[in-house]
Amino acid sequence: MREHDVIIVGGGLAGCRAALEIKQTDPKLNVALVAKTHPIRSHSVAAQGGMAATLKNVEAEDSWEAHAFDTVKGSDYLADQDAVELLTREAPKVVIELEHMGVLFSRLPDGRIAQRAFGGHSHRRTCYAADKTGHAILHELVSNLRRYGVIVYEEWYVMRLIVEEGQAKGVVMFNILNTSLQVVRAKAVMFATGGYGRVFNTTSNDFASTGDGLGMSAFAGVPLEDMEFVQFHPTGLYPVGVLISEAVRGEGAYLINSNGDRFMANYAPSKMELAPRDITSRAIASEIRAGRGIHPDGSAGGAFVYLDLRHMGKEKIMSRIPFCWEEAHRLVGVDAIYEPMPVRPTAHYSMGGIPVNTDGQVRSSPDGLIEGFFAAGESACVSVHGANRLGSNSLLECVVYGKRTGATIARYVQNRKLPEIDEQSYLHGAKAQINALLNQSGRMRIAQLRQAFQDCMTQYCGVFRTEELMQEGLNQLQQLKQQYEEIYLDDKGTDWNTELIEALELRNLMAVGEIILTAALNRKESRGAHFREDYPQRDDTIFLKHTLAYYSSAGIDLQYKPVTLTLFEPKERKY
Ligand code: FUM
Repeated sequence: MREHDVIIVGGGLAGCRAALEIKQTDPKLNVALVAKTHPIRSHSVAAQGGMAATLKNVEAEDSWEAHAFDTVKGSDYLADQDAVELLTREAPKVVIELEHMGVLFSRLPDGRIAQRAFGGHSHRRTCYAADKTGHAILHELVSNLRRYGVIVYEEWYVMRLIVEEGQAKGVVMFNILNTSLQVVRAKAVMFATGGYGRVFNTTSNDFASTGDGLGMSAFAGVPLEDMEFVQFHPTGLYPVGVLISEAVRGEGAYLINSNGDRFMANYAPSKMELAPRDITSRAIASEIRAGRGIHPDGSAGGAFVYLDLRHMGKEKIMSRIPFCWEEAHRLVGVDAIYEPMPVRPTAHYSMGGIPVNTDGQVRSSPDGLIEGFFAAGESACVSVHGANRLGSNSLLECVVYGKRTGATIARYVQNRKLPEIDEQSYLHGAKAQINALLNQSGRMRIAQLRQAFQDCMTQYCGVFRTEELMQEGLNQLQQLKQQYEEIYLDDKGTDWNTELIEALELRNLMAVGEIILTAALNRKESRGAHFREDYPQRDDTIFLKHTLAYYSSAGIDLQYKPVTLTLFEPKERKY
């Protein structure tokens, strides 16, 4: 059995930042990080527009209090305000730390870090590296992993979280190269496994964003928090769904319907294209529904609207958002200097996740903690985003709470012993699960079932929701779950068996989908990204609370937990 003081699952920003913090605090600790891709290919690398922090380089009157207020208002008052205060107070410091590590941020003419406008923020405070900010940050963090002696298991797939008697003790994982299984025990286990965009059929997320950490946690009896809140980014490139950064609108682009109107004037007149994402995505979806979307031939009634950059000019487009220009050019043949880009909402981000306190310790219930288990980043829910995240607050969350969680872990493991684990029984269980999949004699192809599942989630639990729709979605999902028992794998081998991984990922995706639908059905109000056409108002009397969903084969049990309100009283949200 392998042993480490700390095992971190996930090679993106939150996992890498935590690993570095632990090693910087106590270089003697044996810290390992496992990633199912090379860490540089973690989805954080695809983050584009930037990271919010009140450096005040562009607007001197900005303040952490203003950033906190924007974040809480953006969250539709569901964010926990103690967590938001920490996030926004720490923001300038962590950006400067990244700069000192070597991150190449874009600059103002006087050499200070440049800052741009982003949706829902009252000041220009988003620090960026053109439109490749995640790429710039992740490369530095990964280089530093080597420098500080973090052990990296790259291209290993973690298939089980080991929790016994309320304590996380390790994981079961296999080497994707040859499927060799390992049980790993550790004094602390941290999940930084990212989101689950692949629950939906159109997403900005990479193929690896399959909710593995959430699925494994749910199967181990850990609750998941606020899973009904799924962010649809307004500007996914049509038809592929990849991200066209909010930075494009931050730098001045317009959203245009088939009549040629800047329709955001009807939805958020004071913010226009820079309204928060929930409002902008609903506005685009409403225009498309009303027949003011556009067809590829330019006629009305189609499935996308235009993002028009032409007035910005070539120099600005190519210096500030060159990657977005390239995506549209390469993927749909649009030269955005001369033509508008076709866009529509795309599944982008999970506001919910593994519930944690502000030290990154995972909750077992509203008041309890799981020993030895920590989480940060998109897979966690410390609830700084509540019901709707503001753009450029997610990289910030990964770095602030990755660092904080790392510091907690470094303290936690001092003078602790490695836990006892029955290695053979976990190896036996994992082998049996793999063999069952390899030997299953069904006729259902994985791709076919995954597509049916993604279509179901998209149709029945998308931007607009109703009781009737979601109930139908849940019924269909129950049938799809039964078909999982009939999937057939062509590849029976042990070398680089990606089909096997896809089968395990699909199990996680389906559990996550069921939790999203169940939590969404039970929240009979509209708040942030969760919009119920049958309950169009926010209802603070009943639903100013977080959902905790407990998964079991018998069904999903929902409990609730209060929201922490320390700074701002909930108000009507207008832009
Ligand atoms: O639009 C974007 O560049 C995405 C940023 C974010 O999700 O924070």
